[in-house]
Amino acid sequence: GHPHIAYRGADLFIEDLPVAQLAQMHGTPLFVYSSAAMQEALAAYQRGFAGRKVQICYAMKANPSLAIVQFFARQGCGFDIVSGGELERVLAAGGDAGKVIFSGVGKTRAEMRQALQAGILCFNVESEAELEVLSEVAVSMGLQAPVSIRVNPNVDPKTHPYISTGLKGNKFGVAHERTLATYQRAASLAGIRVVGIDCHIGSQITEATPYLDAADRVLDLIEAIEAAGIPIHHIDFGGGLGINYNGDTPPAADDLWAQLLAKMDARGFGDRQFLIEPGRSLVGNAGLCVTEVLYLKPGEEKNFCIVDAAMNDLPRPAMYQAFHGIVPLQQHSEVPAQVYDVVGPVCESGDWLGRERSLAVCPGDRLAVLSAGAYCMSMSSNYNTRGRAAEVLVSGSTSTVIRPRETAADSFRNERLLAL
Ligand code: LLP
Repeated sequence: GHPHIAYRGADLFIEDLPVAQLAQMHGTPLFVYSSAAMQEALAAYQRGFAGRKVQICYAMKANPSLAIVQFFARQGCGFDIVSGGELERVLAAGGDAGKVIFSGVGKTRAEMRQALQAGILCFNVESEAELEVLSEVAVSMGLQAPVSIRVNPNVDPKTHPYISTGLKGNKFGVAHERTLATYQRAASLAGIRVVGIDCHIGSQITEATPYLDAADRVLDLIEAIEAAGIPIHHIDFGGGLGINYNGDTPPAADDLWAQLLAKMDARGFGDRQFLIEPGRSLVGNAGLCVTEVLYLKPGEEKNFCIVDAAMNDLPRPAMYQAFHGIVPLQQHSEVPAQVYDVVGPVCESGDWLGRERSLAVCPGDRLAVLSAGAYCMSMSSNYNTRGRAAEVLVSGSTSTVIRPRETAADSFRNERLLAL
């Protein structure tokens, strides 16, 4: 178990608060996050980089709630953003634009202008076409855009195909063979200032090997690029470190970085400026989603446990057949355990949160869907006109509502009827 989300007696606690008490106060579905768990996850990276020049840029797509962004900004983090909207969030949360890196294959001219105006740290450019447009935009503003080229190192991160990004068939990054030519083009463009190199090979990676392989390929490239007279100031290794959802055993962030930095040292790159872009590993296991059992529906082939959270709240099972642990807020044994598919109210057969789970539950009981801090709320939708869940951040015995529950009216506030 996780020290910050664990049973005390029969009751599930998050830090010093019984989760049931929060559900009672705020209703369900409800996302609850532990600030101590986020702190601890960040500390593992900080330990790994002790004594090095590093900027940790939280990949805020994992969970962009303003208070979460503010939490990481206060710890000195920068942010990996993928849209102008995320930049607005960073600024609204008091983050520093000077610590922002901008990733993504489809940046618009307007987003480029916005980021140049704000003075971000670096554009992680994903194609030669994007490079040309970025230079044009920067020149039109009388500026130079700080640029890193995202290299596709063509290594297999051995994760789900939808979240694997560093293989040749992916839309991401510039092919290894095209990288040097792309840097030479970048160095010749008036609106571009080369500052770094980056790669990101995928997400939910549970082994060190793909990182070490990617590092070798990136270091080879740096040698070639610098030999061509183009200095590379920083090395950005992206994010991707996995978390334990279902007995997964990813390396700890500090162990992984000890291995990677040993490689950097051995190859003479140990004193470079490093950037990293972790998302899931900073917040994933800091959060849970509380849901109430509405109905039990026994069947000939399957028993269904119908709960009030659904694929619109927590799309990972529906999208990736992802596993999230599901546990009761209060362990009691009056009813016998049965095997259920845990499903939501949305009108789709794909609307499930867990399959074939043994649960001892009655209608009215509450369950926690675990490891729900990353890519759950951030991928939620209003499908079936379901308002988004509320979010609460816990610190010790203090809880703060960081997003009140969305009403149906909130969800269609910006819509317009036709004139009569
Ligand atoms: N940097 C870049 C360029 C990325 O594309 C991503 C994630 C990250 C950093 C952060 O990766 P992380 O440390 O969180 O693995 N929705 C999927 C995950 C998509 C990841 C997209 N890119 C899921 O729920 O599993």
